[in-house]
Amino acid sequence: MTVIADQAPQPIQTPRATPRHYLMCPPQYFTVEYSINPWMDPGTPVDADRAMAQWDELKRTYERLGHTVEVVEPQPGLPDMVFAANSATVIDGRVLGARFRAPQRAAEAEHFRRWFTTRGYRDLVMPSRINEAEGDFAWTGQVLLAGSGFRTDPEAHAEAQEVLGVPVVSLRLIDPRYYHLDTALFVLRRGADARIAYYPEAFSAGSRRVLQRMFPDAVIATAADADCLGLNGVSDGRHVVLPTEATGLAAQLADRGYEPILLDISELRKSGGGPKCCTLELHT
Ligand code: ARG
Repeated sequence: MTVIADQAPQPIQTPRATPRHYLMCPPQYFTVEYSINPWMDPGTPVDADRAMAQWDELKRTYERLGHTVEVVEPQPGLPDMVFAANSATVIDGRVLGARFRAPQRAAEAEHFRRWFTTRGYRDLVMPSRINEAEGDFAWTGQVLLAGSGFRTDPEAHAEAQEVLGVPVVSLRLIDPRYYHLDTALFVLRRGADARIAYYPEAFSAGSRRVLQRMFPDAVIATAADADCLGLNGVSDGRHVVLPTEATGLAAQLADRGYEPILLDISELRKSGGGPKCCTLELHT
């Protein structure tokens, strides 16, 4: 009897890491003193030293994996500045800055703009629409997945396409707990055969169908994975940094050959943030 080729087990392609270039901002002035998302309760105390230790561990993890980490100087009075991912989108050296929805965060945009200018990034545009950068934009290497619903204006998606010159796919978020795209989806591997992980319930029915169509092999996260901000992961193509509690997601990733790295981000989560929120990737 002949063996039918496509019934033979598919060889598992080993996920490969590529060196990354990140920008981060230490949580020196981190607090939760206002509430602009359902995770933030100004009545819950934040342990500043612990937040700093968790952030340090994240940074050291990237460095240990061989990635380059640059740091922006934190500013007093801007407690959310640690969430660097919200402050710019950089693709092929072009920079699209940020424009925050909440007045409490507005001034962060200028500090980051200055960092890019000082570092010699010439192709820099500040957006005219509300745009929370990598909070709502995920680059697959081919398309920019773009979230709206709570923060980034849908019109900012067209603006990003025009400024960055990459195709944008708009997705609508529907659950206030998953207010940024990066709380519900992340890219595991970039390129023509990009892979993502996401939590379908965070998206509108139409957006779910778009994701299914584009990424039939996606890792589908559960409510428990999403609930600890497990979708706020950072992947270098092989190693995937996740919050400690995201054990279900970690197991699914390990099954597919990825190496999950679980980190405690409990203090940062009190502000609605996780590993990815603290990490702006410079796609240069
Ligand atoms: N407290 C911040 C805010 O609500 C958290 C931002 C988290 N960043 C992110 N990329 N999801 O704006």
